[in-house]
Amino acid sequence: MERHQSEQENQYMKTITPTLEERGVSRKELLQQAQQIDNDEFYTRYEDVEKELSMYSKFIWKDKVVFCNGNDAVDDDNDKRRTSAFALYFLNNFNVLGLKKLICTHYVGNVGLFNQGPTGYVFIKDGFNEIREYPPKFTGSFDDPLSLKILHEDTDIVCSNPPFSRAADYWRLIIESGKKFLIISNITNPITPAFIPYFREDKVWAGYNRVDEYLNQKREIVRAAGSWYTNIPIKDRPKYNHLKIVPLKEIPEKYKTMDDKKTLLVDHCHIPSDYKKPFAVSARPILNGLLEKGYKIVNDNQYFPYVNGKKCFGRVLVKKV
Ligand SMILES: C[S@@+](CC[C@H](N)C(=O)[O-])C[C@H]1O[C@@H](n2cnc3c(N)ncnc32)[C@H](O)[C@@H]1O
Repeated sequence: MERHQSEQENQYMKTITPTLEERGVSRKELLQQAQQIDNDEFYTRYEDVEKELSMYSKFIWKDKVVFCNGNDAVDDDNDKRRTSAFALYFLNNFNVLGLKKLICTHYVGNVGLFNQGPTGYVFIKDGFNEIREYPPKFTGSFDDPLSLKILHEDTDIVCSNPPFSRAADYWRLIIESGKKFLIISNITNPITPAFIPYFREDKVWAGYNRVDEYLNQKREIVRAAGSWYTNIPIKDRPKYNHLKIVPLKEIPEKYKTMDDKKTLLVDHCHIPSDYKKPFAVSARPILNGLLEKGYKIVNDNQYFPYVNGKKCFGRVLVKKV
């Protein structure tokens, strides 16, 4: 019986499943799409939101409208497991922070941890009132016209972990909006071309913490190298201590190299205090606050050193001001 059924099912699949050619996609494109969805489905843990947000003065939130716009679902039965950690943090702390309003959007699609169905919606908590709206054709995407309207007209602070695959578009939109933000993104952004200009122009800096663990759609812990990024002032950045700013001759030999173009490369957060020319660093010292210590990024390019003809990992060129 089972075998018979599965033969029937196979027959059915054969007749209705369109070929890749009919769907106008190649196998490679299909794999890329699947990979993209996989890379985006990293959900933030509540403790990571709490650990970072509690570092900022409570007064930055007072009477502010917070917008969580990277698939930050809120369950209508108050089920915590179906609500994003960002939404949950602001719902739990709404009064303590003195928030004026919380706006969260749910992104269309069936994939996801929150099981909130395929329809995009907007959740609004305004004082004691909580409403959920399903505007026609609303996708819940951060660049949907309604999301942009909320961003530009209503929002004071944007807070989310947006899809990694759309990070460059997301950063452009929120930075151009001029709003305050506190978001999670890839740890390598300070040395990635799409983002270097924002660090160079001092429009963004790292928050207090890294984020290395997330939940996948099965609620299992998965690892990815993320960091908080913000344009909200950071007080006495604790990670300044990780920077070893010393005269060049005091940097151990194993942490300084001249590349084939005679550019100095320094590692392990060793920074020369007396070197006048540009030198190349990894993302780490930038995340630890190097640009707040009298150094600037020289240009918007990623720098790929060659040492003895061998290409090394990408960096960024910095210089003492
Ligand atoms: C890194 S996950 C984080 C989800 C949630 N903000 C959290 O922190 O748990 C990014 C989410 O954005 C969703 N997404 C993908 N494209 C999007 C878009 N254009 N606008 C909003 N969300 C999107 C993904 O499906 C994924 O659920």
